[in-house]
Amino acid sequence: MNLLNLEPAWPVEQGREADLYFYLEAIEEYLPGNRVRVLGHGDMIMLGGYSYLGLIGHPAINEAAHRAIDRYGTGTHGVRMLAGTLVLHRELEAKIAAFKGTEAATTFSSGFFANVSSIAALVGRHDTVICDKLDHASIVDGCLLSGAKFVRFAHNDMAHLERSLTNSAYPGKRLVIVDGVYSMDGDIVNLPEVSRLCREHGATLMVDEAHSVGVLGVTGHGIEEHFGLPADAVDIKMGTLSKAIPSIGGYIAGSAKLCEFLSHQARGFIYSGALPPASAAAALAAFEVIEAEPERVRRLQENAAYLAEGLRAAGFDFKDSPTAIFPIMCWDDWQAWRLARSCQRRGVYVQAIPHPIVPKGQARLRAAVNATHTAEDLDYCLSVLREGAEEVGGILGVAR
Ligand SMILES: Cc1ncc(COP(=O)(O)O)c(C=O)c1O
Repeated sequence: MNLLNLEPAWPVEQGREADLYFYLEAIEEYLPGNRVRVLGHGDMIMLGGYSYLGLIGHPAINEAAHRAIDRYGTGTHGVRMLAGTLVLHRELEAKIAAFKGTEAATTFSSGFFANVSSIAALVGRHDTVICDKLDHASIVDGCLLSGAKFVRFAHNDMAHLERSLTNSAYPGKRLVIVDGVYSMDGDIVNLPEVSRLCREHGATLMVDEAHSVGVLGVTGHGIEEHFGLPADAVDIKMGTLSKAIPSIGGYIAGSAKLCEFLSHQARGFIYSGALPPASAAAALAAFEVIEAEPERVRRLQENAAYLAEGLRAAGFDFKDSPTAIFPIMCWDDWQAWRLARSCQRRGVYVQAIPHPIVPKGQARLRAAVNATHTAEDLDYCLSVLREGAEEVGGILGVAR
């Protein structure tokens, strides 16, 4: 044990000593109106959660989960391949495929797992995988595990992507992987151009839609709907069931052949237990709710525009985009912690994102709106952010 370095890469202890550490805090209760009761901190407005459409606790989704428990209990008989597949899994996968306009879908026990295990199954030592520099950690880990040549292009830089696609030194099949919405920056991939370049240069395209399903497009169907592209603009559509969809799990949607391949070749599918019945049923019901209640998507998009306007007026530096994620730049890790802690003390639950989660000197608050915030909630959050930034100093009116 003493041979291992057990020091985290960020100053956890110093943060605690300065009373600036607010991670892993335990939520005691979800309260109405997008509030949470946090153990030792009281009631707070959630401005840092992933439940973009406010579907946690939706009666139809809860009811579906209860019914699944009544029918199947809490677990499955293990891995999908052998004895763990339920009719519910098939129904969920058919629903995801229909939602994303693909022939089929395969579910995994998390989004992280979906990325790691499918990338590792799809490419190997003799292939090349080409990723945006800001792709999610699970994509990076999948690429490393695959053993393929791992190439990264500068964030959303299409000329750099094209150079990577035409570099004859890169071996084998080429798989390009991008995020639909970048989780720490909140901006959107240039999908029309990425898709065009992949087609032109014979590469396969995979898009991680963890933060775009339920968020982008008039009806929340995601990144292709946002750009008005056909469903086949993306070959491999990855998503999670833990953000706009209030459950757990991940999926890959695509051709029937792709899903047949993954369900016999992706180790995270073959060697890991099936999604629990209640989680599968909740996810299935959530996709149905998104389609039945499109006004949630509209409200989310209106709220995002409202928060953006308020942040701009206050003088914050943030990347403007139509997504639900707002990186509020503070640059210095300690400045970000101070601002976050000042908001938390005033009842706004928002987190600081320091190095090494983001590059050095790029620390930020990561705020996220959802469909159930009211204008009063957002006004309150904005006033708290503004007061906090004035207190901390060096944040408002600064752009780097
Ligand atoms: C872009 C992206 N991809 C994948 C994941 C992993 O998904 P999950 O939380 O379902 O494991 C996340 C989660 O934070 C994410 O932000």
